[in-house]
Amino acid sequence: MAKILMKNIRGLVQVGENLPKIRKGKEMQELSILENAFLALEDGEVVGYGLMEDWEGITDWRDLEIVDADGCFVLPAFCDSHTHTVFAKTREEEFVDRIHGLTYEEIAMKGGGILNSARKLADMSEDELFENAQLRIEKIIACGTGAIEIKSGYGLSVESELKMLRVIKRLKENNKIAIKATFLGAHAFPAEFKENHRAYLDLIIHEMLPQIEKERLAEYIDVFCERNYYSVEEMEEVLQAGIKHGLTPKVHVNQFSAMGGVAKAIELGALSVDHLEEIATEDIEALQNSECMPVLLPGCSHFIGIPFGDSRRMITAGLPVALASDFNPGSTPNYNLFTVWSLACIKMKMTPEEAFNALTINAAYAMGLSETHGKIFLGSKSPIILTNEIPSLAYLPYSFGENNVKRIFNL
Ligand code: NIG
Ligand code: FE
Repeated sequence: MAKILMKNIRGLVQVGENLPKIRKGKEMQELSILENAFLALEDGEVVGYGLMEDWEGITDWRDLEIVDADGCFVLPAFCDSHTHTVFAKTREEEFVDRIHGLTYEEIAMKGGGILNSARKLADMSEDELFENAQLRIEKIIACGTGAIEIKSGYGLSVESELKMLRVIKRLKENNKIAIKATFLGAHAFPAEFKENHRAYLDLIIHEMLPQIEKERLAEYIDVFCERNYYSVEEMEEVLQAGIKHGLTPKVHVNQFSAMGGVAKAIELGALSVDHLEEIATEDIEALQNSECMPVLLPGCSHFIGIPFGDSRRMITAGLPVALASDFNPGSTPNYNLFTVWSLACIKMKMTPEEAFNALTINAAYAMGLSETHGKIFLGSKSPIILTNEIPSLAYLPYSFGENNVKRIFNL
């Protein structure tokens, strides 16, 4: 049996039994930390933790690796509840277009954006897509992410949407990291269906969803509810169909406009509503009366120059907030959740503690992993981060752009 004992840990963070499933409002400031602590793992399972002064010594030294964590923090790995990690090609030509003054929406209107990614993905084989995504997963893990949700949505045809979801299934089989799959066939309308939404909705409902259920290719269903994409009514129809096929809603909404999609998604049982760069009082009220997690994506706001989600307003209203990367080739070519942590503090005025809860406990909730991820507890086998020697927890978001992961356990 492989045994590891971490000793002299400067701060063992988000540790304890019966930690809450969600932290909201003022509780988002709370973190469960043991200072000057130890943590014992046996074959990756947490079998003991506590203060160094309470440590009773080692009875069995066989196969024991001792890690001196003096000056280091030990954290549960982050959960990334919103990514588009499977894609064919990067889109830096659109990045340059934005430098010259075009907006993300204008680029999409002239055939770029999601449709650009869909054209590129149609030409790539399943094997090549898988190999590229596998390399990305390895880099993502090295940045301290310990669970990841991945969406389809660059297929936009029966064949290519299934191809993407089969790639995600292979990623699940090939990796120890927990992966959740989301079907996002309703990410955009393909050009040939621009004037005939009905025909594409029928493809999603009658051809894609039955096959997805048959091959068990997804847990969640997503729709990009936005002007020039899917209306609230179209979102409702797609989500209803997904629910019939066993999928839980988790949607893109309010990126550029508040159209009533938040309340509708909540009414349909959405686990999370993501983006929310725009937010109306009705949206806040709908969230207050729900168990739905608002997920903010500061990397996207930063990269395409749109407003940051109003986390302060949400927290003041007593809501929880989760943070995710939105990693994708168009609006957010960055998967590093340390960067997201920094942006949340700098641009959204979240405290380091609030943002850490948003990246762990609340993020785990937003991807259905509350029981296992986002915290450290007896019996857990989830991924754990050992940081470099750092002066304080706040140093992690402060030192933006720096990777302070020294080692990851359980991946
Ligand atoms: O979450 N807004 C919709 N979807 C993605 C971006 C997709 C793309 O540009 O490729 C997002 O930002
Ligand atoms: Fe997204």
